[in-house]
Amino acid sequence: MLDVFNKRHSVRSFQPRGVTMETLAEILDAINTAPSAGGLKAREIHVIADGEIKRRLARAAFGQDFVAQAPVVLVFWAVPSRSAAKYGSRGRDLYCIQDATIAASFAWLQAVASGLAGCWVGAFGDDEVKAIFRKEIQSDWRPVALLPIGYPAE
Ligand SMILES: Cc1cc2nc3c(=O)[nH]c(=O)nc-3n(C[C@H](O)[C@H](O)[C@H](O)COP(=O)(O)O)c2cc1C
Repeated sequence: MLDVFNKRHSVRSFQPRGVTMETLAEILDAINTAPSAGGLKAREIHVIADGEIKRRLARAAFGQDFVAQAPVVLVFWAVPSRSAAKYGSRGRDLYCIQDATIAASFAWLQAVASGLAGCWVGAFGDDEVKAIFRKEIQSDWRPVALLPIGYPAE
């Protein structure tokens, strides 16, 4: 574990080489092991490899172009209503954010363990990210983090 922690650092430049489904599955498996408040998993994840959507995400992230350059971008959402149904305002305002955050943390660390690298991106316009996914999300979903991942060029 400590090796993985020590290896993890923010990488913002990637090789064009794609990420295999097998490696993505390892990352999704890691996400599934993440704890969540009451086991409710009040978070959702989009796995994005489509170039146009990645470019729109980069624009939503105030022009952080490495978001579009990465072969895959994971988008972590908090789902407030799922947590609020059991925990009221604490679930809506806090637990769902924590559920999404710990899922993203597990994903980043597993990505590193699988030989990839990435960078947590928290600087983006919430409304701009929501607009990209408007047909697939519920209105209360909140984007918490973008995680562009790929093989490091640095
Ligand atoms: C909550 C959060 C938000 C961040 N947002 C961004 C971001 O929008 N763009 C970026 O390039 N790095 C972002 N980072 C990465 C940090 O800049 C980076 O983790 C920090 O400089 C420490 O470097 P290291 O990750 O290599 O240890 C973010 C990190 C965290 C935890």
